[in-house]
Parts: sequence; C-alpha cells; structure tokens
Amino acid sequence: MSLLQAKDIKKIYKGPSGTIEVLSRFSLSLDRGEAIAIMGPSGVGKSTLLSILGTLEKPTSGYLEIQGKNALKGDLSKRRNNLLGFIFQRFHLLEEFTTLQNVLLPSKIAGEADEKRALMLLDKVGLSDRANFLAKVLSGGEKQRVAIARALMNDPQILFADEPTGNLDSHTSSQIQDLLISLCREMKKSLIVATHDEGLALKCDRVIQLEKK
Ligand SMILES: Nc1ncnc2c1ncn2[C@@H]1O[C@H](COP(=O)(O)OP(=O)(O)O)[C@@H](O)[C@H]1O
Ligand SMILES: [Mg+2]
Repeated sequence: MSLLQAKDIKKIYKGPSGTIEVLSRFSLSLDRGEAIAIMGPSGVGKSTLLSILGTLEKPTSGYLEIQGKNALKGDLSKRRNNLLGFIFQRFHLLEEFTTLQNVLLPSKIAGEADEKRALMLLDKVGLSDRANFLAKVLSGGEKQRVAIARALMNDPQILFADEPTGNLDSHTSSQIQDLLISLCREMKKSLIVATHDEGLALKCDRVIQLEKK
C-alpha cells in the first residue's frame, strides 16, 4: 500500500489579473522509503505542490490520502506534526533560539520534549558541538543541518524539502544533499524534494517533471 496517494490535484489561484491554474490533474503514489524529486522551471508550481501534498494548503479539487486516510478533511495540524517533516530553502529556524531548542520544537508542540532524541539527531547531522549555539550564528549549511534534524524530530513518515540547497554554495549543497538522502535511507523515510539540482534529482528513486502550461 502506498504511503501517500494524490489523485487529480488541481490548484487555481485567483489574482487581481484573473485566475491562474497552477496544477491540473496531478496524481502521485508514493511508496514507503521512496525518494522523489520534483523538477521544473521557477513558477511552475513546485512549492504549491509540496504545500498541498504536505497538507499545508488545500487543493481546489482532487483527492489526497496519507497512510490510508483522507488528508483533506478535518484539523490536520496534529497528524501533520507527527507524520510529516518540512525543510525549506531559507531554513526557517528560530534565530534567537539555540540549535537544540530548534530541533526540540516539534516534540514540544506534540507535548513531550525528547532531549535525548534531539541530541541523537544533532549527532547524526554532525552538529553535536553546536547544540547550545544560537541559530543566528550558524552558517547556511549548518542551519540546513539543524532544519533536517528538526524535520526528523517526531520520527515522521514523509519529509518534504523545498529547494533545500537553493541557498547554499555548490560544495555545501552537495554535502547537504548526501546527508539528506543518506538519513532518509537509513531511517527509512519517504522524501519529496523540489529542486533545480540535477545532482540531487539523480540521487532520488524517481523524478517528476512539472511542465509550464
Ligand atoms: N498564494 C498565491 N496566490 C496567488 N498566486 C500564487 C500563490 N502562490 C503561488 N502563486 C503562483 O503560482 C505559481 C506557482 O508558484 P510556485 O508553486 O511557488 O512555483 P515554483 O515553486 O515552481 O517556483 C506562480 O505563478 C506563483 O506566482
Ligand atoms: Mg518554489
């Protein structure tokens, strides 16, 4: 059984100069542990698609199921916090909080701050020695490592990453790609990653190309 199933997803935005159809009839079946790259030119709808599949945004029409349950109905915040992890291009860390506090946040929201797991994840991303540093003093690559640890904090089934290396230099970028892919493999997480980077796409099991309409 697939972990996530999307069927005929359509998204229309209404703007001042009329409506734009960003996605039309997008369907996908994601297996457990599978890594999928979403590619396509800027503006084609990659971020919109990730937001919809990650239940952050509702489609105009279509169907979405995660772990066999309708993922478009009801209050999804609790399920999302336990089932899905997110990594963004601009890291989205709380800059005035420490590395450890940032990683702990999803578990605090879930009601139990699991410091042992946060420290284990910081070790996995190679930042044990930065646990008590404020996020704002970290380099871009270090910030994305923290964000990866944070995304894994609640032991989710699926990670969504929106151009996770778009703000990094090429050397750091390839290190972060290897880290992300190897952690997903090791921890058996599914991954949906939007990227312009052919190298990252090649490391995934499958590539979906979004075309401009
Ligand atoms: N909230 C919104 N309201 C109106 N238009 C939007 C909104 N979000 C995205 N768009 C438009 O939808 C299109 C796809 O955007 P996006 O998903 O960010 O593309 P990508 O991530 O591939 O660059 C763009 O034309 C963008 O301007
Ligand atoms: Mg985008």
